Amino acid sequence: MVVDTEVVAHRGASAARAEHTLAAYELALREGADGLECDVRLTRDGHLVCVHDRTIGRTSDGAGAVGALTLAQLRRHDFGSWHGGEPAEVLTFEQLAGLAADHRVRLFAETKHPVRQGGRVERELARALSRYRLDAHMMSFSPLAVRRFKALRPDVPTVLLLDRFWPRRLPTWADVAGPGVHLLRRHPGRGAGAYCWTVDDPADVALCRERGVRFLATDNPARTRGLLAAN
Ligand code: G3P
Ligand code: CA
Repeated sequence: MVVDTEVVAHRGASAARAEHTLAAYELALREGADGLECDVRLTRDGHLVCVHDRTIGRTSDGAGAVGALTLAQLRRHDFGSWHGGEPAEVLTFEQLAGLAADHRVRLFAETKHPVRQGGRVERELARALSRYRLDAHMMSFSPLAVRRFKALRPDVPTVLLLDRFWPRRLPTWADVAGPGVHLLRRHPGRGAGAYCWTVDDPADVALCRERGVRFLATDNPARTRGLLAAN
């Protein structure tokens, strides 16, 4: 099967730069990524920011839950130095969407902890996406979140992320299956058209290519691109 597998920078070029920082995404673009992946959370005052964890302790010099802090409070912290790089401000979703729009690359936005916030993250994301001319996908491990988002923005493709179980058929509100690479290994014959995460091992890159995976999320876009070209 001949399918172009697109390279998606997972949290930016996050092997080389602090995840979810502008520097990580700019490096991913220089490395030729076709798409950018990010996690989005809401601040206390309703701004969407790109942070993976519920709290900021692992990826900044601060502490506390994203949802308990305002954007101004988050901006007082350094999100770059923990990884050995330059100091960096928290990245807002608006900044990242602007970058993706300017560079005409796809954006894959994953909502975190949607159930707890009663659909607010999905509503804000739906609203934010309409401000940009952007080729975006919405993603979540939560079926409820994906279904809610699809009802708001039927025109935006959705990815149902899968960790433990890969159903044979996707629900109508999910456009793309998003298996972890461990599920791809476990299910021979599947993978065509899928979004697969997080693929950094050379054997897994080859497997994705072989199975016709469409979107491959990696922490190392340049190396993965090289591996895809060599396969
Ligand atoms: O791209 C999907 C992948 O990012 C899901 O896992 O924990 O890195 O958000 P996580
Ligand atoms: Ca993610």
